[in-house]
Amino acid sequence: MARRYLVAGNWKMNGSKDYVADLSKALANESFDNVDVVVCPPACFLPLFEKQNFALAGQDISVHEGGAHTGDLSASMLAEVGCGYVIVGHSERRDDHGETSELVAQKAKAALAAGLVPLVCIGEPLEVREAGTEESYVGEQLVPLMNLLSDEELARCVIAYEPVWAIGTGKTASPAQAQAMHAYLRAQFAKRNAELAEGIQLLYGGSMKPENAEELLAQKDIDGGLIGGASLKAESFIAICQAAK
Ligand code: PGA
Repeated sequence: MARRYLVAGNWKMNGSKDYVADLSKALANESFDNVDVVVCPPACFLPLFEKQNFALAGQDISVHEGGAHTGDLSASMLAEVGCGYVIVGHSERRDDHGETSELVAQKAKAALAAGLVPLVCIGEPLEVREAGTEESYVGEQLVPLMNLLSDEELARCVIAYEPVWAIGTGKTASPAQAQAMHAYLRAQFAKRNAELAEGIQLLYGGSMKPENAEELLAQKDIDGGLIGGASLKAESFIAICQAAK
């Protein structure tokens, strides 16, 4: 079965009520048959989205279901306000909040338990890429996830490969570099279960924009994109969704 494309716009700590309205209106005029379109705004804006032709995602969750955790949100809260997805393990969370791959795996598990699809981010920093050890680095980031989740749970995850040196820098992994890593990732899943490897959606993230999206998305093992900067303008986000179509 052919894998569908998924394009997710990660607003990070950006956006406004006006942009909620503008983007919703712009997307309402589009149709994306073969593409799952996902919008990941700051959580405070989630309830402002009305009926949409796209899915909503949170940018992070707690591993806890509730209780005394000031400032945190649970997976079930995001589900309750209409999310179908949640980003976990973004490199900015790993850097700003010291999140480990073990914690990220627990967050993915919590997301699945609440019926959300976790968009699990992995990716190597520049020094690792320069040392040529990016595959083993990224492979290590996957280990806790592989250990904690069953095959059936893994099949409900989406993996986003985001080389840290390409995030927000304007530098993009070349289509060949991105494809090589995606093939490596799919091979890691194949060691576990061939059907899982064939079905799992693998996204690329890191300075994807309308100018480079088509070539990246044409790679055999790239099933979509996690888009930061270019998701903050309706026109460029839609152009990337179109490129996936
Ligand atoms: P970028 O961000 O597209 O601005 O590089 C991608 C991301 O961090 O998800």
